Amino acid sequence: MGNPFRLGVLGSGKGSNLAALADACASGRVPAQVALVLSDVEGAGILDRARERNLAGRFIPPGKFRTKLDEEAEKNFVAALWAERVDLVALAGFMRVLKGDFLRAFEGRIVNVHPSLLPSFPGLEAWKQALDHGVKVTGCTVHFVDAGVDAGPIIGQRAVPVRDEDTPETLHQRIQEAEHELYPQCVAAIARGEISVAGRRVVWRKSRSADFADPRR
Ligand code: GAR
Repeated sequence: MGNPFRLGVLGSGKGSNLAALADACASGRVPAQVALVLSDVEGAGILDRARERNLAGRFIPPGKFRTKLDEEAEKNFVAALWAERVDLVALAGFMRVLKGDFLRAFEGRIVNVHPSLLPSFPGLEAWKQALDHGVKVTGCTVHFVDAGVDAGPIIGQRAVPVRDEDTPETLHQRIQEAEHELYPQCVAAIARGEISVAGRRVVWRKSRSADFADPRR
């Protein structure tokens, strides 16, 4: 066995995706460990989810901007992740766009989960965008992060039907249930070295563990 694959998880919210990832690591479904949890929001639920699981978690002040990290904050985030020798950065509800220096520091090693079937509905409150648009199917996407907003190569997607009686809350809840299955599955494949990227196309090279359903169905 080599060294364990080390995850750094960044989030701004309640942390249900961190919980799903950490629990999948703890149960062995994902061959990795959560080495560090970072938040740009003091007192965010994601830091509580980390503490409950005895995972290292820290708030790092994001600086003066609202939608991105300032230069000093970016340096602090990168330094913290490097100090923990993180192999993969997993964004889990991190509500700031990552810029050049951060992207270069972890090139090809940052993933994100987004609550829609990209490229539909990038940006904020994607479940609400889907409801307002009237689509009958939405879902969630795990993708590599590049300089665009919710734009990098797609690793996996899971469809979620929209019901007539859905409210933003009920739809987001069902999308999150799909995220909690899809995200660990995609991270497991990356940790096992089963994923390769050719341009925009992500190829799953080996048959996947029977623990998980096929994310492309
Ligand atoms: C998730 O639904 C995630 O897809 C979304 O934030 C939520 C975080 O929930 N991310 C985005 O909208 C990013 N564009 P969590 O804190 O419970 O994991």
